[in-house]
Amino acid sequence: MSASIKIFDTTLRDGEQTPGVNLNLQEKLEIARQLQKLGVDVIEAGFAIASPGDFDAIKAVSQDVKGVTIASLARAVEKDIDRAWEAVQYAERPRIHTFIATSEIHMKYKLKMTEDEVYERSVAMVKHAKRYCEDVEFSAEDASRSSLQFLYRVLEGVIKAGATVLNIPDTVGYATPIEFGNLIKDVRENVKGIEKVDISVHCHNDLGLAVANSLSAVLNGATQVECTINGLGERAGNAALEEIIMGINTRKDFYSINHNINSTQIYRTSKLITKLTGVGVQPNKAVVGANAFAHESGIHQHGVLSEKTTYEIMTPESVGLTQNKMVLGKLSGKHAFEERLKELGFTLSQDEIQKAFEKFKELADKKKEVTDKDIEALVEENVSEIQQTYELDSFQINSGNKVISTAMVSLKRNGETITEAATGDGPVDAAFNAMERVSGVGLELEDYGLRAVTEGKDALGEVTVRVSRDNKTIIGRGISTDIIEASVKAYLNAINRAISEFGEGIIIVKS
Ligand code: KIV
Ligand code: ZN
Repeated sequence: MSASIKIFDTTLRDGEQTPGVNLNLQEKLEIARQLQKLGVDVIEAGFAIASPGDFDAIKAVSQDVKGVTIASLARAVEKDIDRAWEAVQYAERPRIHTFIATSEIHMKYKLKMTEDEVYERSVAMVKHAKRYCEDVEFSAEDASRSSLQFLYRVLEGVIKAGATVLNIPDTVGYATPIEFGNLIKDVRENVKGIEKVDISVHCHNDLGLAVANSLSAVLNGATQVECTINGLGERAGNAALEEIIMGINTRKDFYSINHNINSTQIYRTSKLITKLTGVGVQPNKAVVGANAFAHESGIHQHGVLSEKTTYEIMTPESVGLTQNKMVLGKLSGKHAFEERLKELGFTLSQDEIQKAFEKFKELADKKKEVTDKDIEALVEENVSEIQQTYELDSFQINSGNKVISTAMVSLKRNGETITEAATGDGPVDAAFNAMERVSGVGLELEDYGLRAVTEGKDALGEVTVRVSRDNKTIIGRGISTDIIEASVKAYLNAINRAISEFGEGIIIVKS
């Protein structure tokens, strides 16, 4: 009989620690619901004591997402554990995840604690968490750089105190696959009582080995893998869920491991994370990169055309990527559109379908061929919409290589149209400046990205802007066949998000 592993997704906790990522409650809920569809066993929804926003999101996910274990992180400190419990107590299957570092370097310089103090604290805090919650995970932070004898001692102590999951993190991505596999084997063979608990691993990607280390751990007896979608996380990120799963699935003959993930939800989940975090994946990223299933060279194309398995070790369909076929056109009706949405795996309300259909009709007027990717982009623009304080009425741009760019933008607010003009360093800057004048919202533009959703000159362009205020990041997104319009929509989306996040009262009005 083959072994089974549990997938612990920490996109909402370690993933949210990615520089520049800041998700609001609605976005976290949307991600948690998608993770449930994907089939993860555990969702680490946040770090309850870190901020009221984290706390509220963990509580909301606990109340909303059933059939999955919901965890909150907590330092090995009473007040952290109390707060974690306050947030996860609503879950059908709550878990408190407490951690303390066990490596000499962390104990000496960060914690300023002796081995005995760390041991006592670990045991006491697991006991404290156990008063609230049956399921308690203990992480020995920086385990891969800890003394083996001390690690065994701490792990034995927390098992006796009632821990149900022991996590062995490679916190700084220092381990190598053989070494890390051996560490898991050593823990399995030397820690008394280990057979009663799950052995978890949590690998960071500083040397690009997070997935390899996690898989090596699985081969050596780890029963839970902690990972994130698209490999998001601190510094170089965490092990990527999609790579672990497709590694196990594609090489069933080698790993012979079962799990509960529905791999056909991988692509959709990856896209959702990209959209909500504003962090794109590199085109050559394994499994979910834009080129992951593209065959460029003539020899490869020829091979794939005669027999797919010549150069394809997994199918695009197995990760939920539909073929980019031409599906609908200008004359297609709502019924056909709705059917296609179902085939693409969307479950939308009638209102959402109607909105997407109107956008589809507008697009079909401008574009000859409307593909699945276009439809996905239109639908994704609609979901998770926030309060539209301002709506785009019209804009006009004057730009060229010998003139100063000027933009006139009209936005609607409560039925009133407000128009402002501004100059700028290029048409996009001019349009953004005009919108800031209309709304009075001043934001710092940190990043601007443009990508084509499909091929061809009439492709939909998708613009993502990352803006910040008071160290908080907001992502705005807009799509259109016209890249200036896509930019205007993205910035407007960011302005509306800023208003709903901070309230208008605290927005700086630029002079
Ligand atoms: O990387 C790490 O060690 C962590 C722990 C808190 C599990 O994120
Ligand atoms: Zn981590």
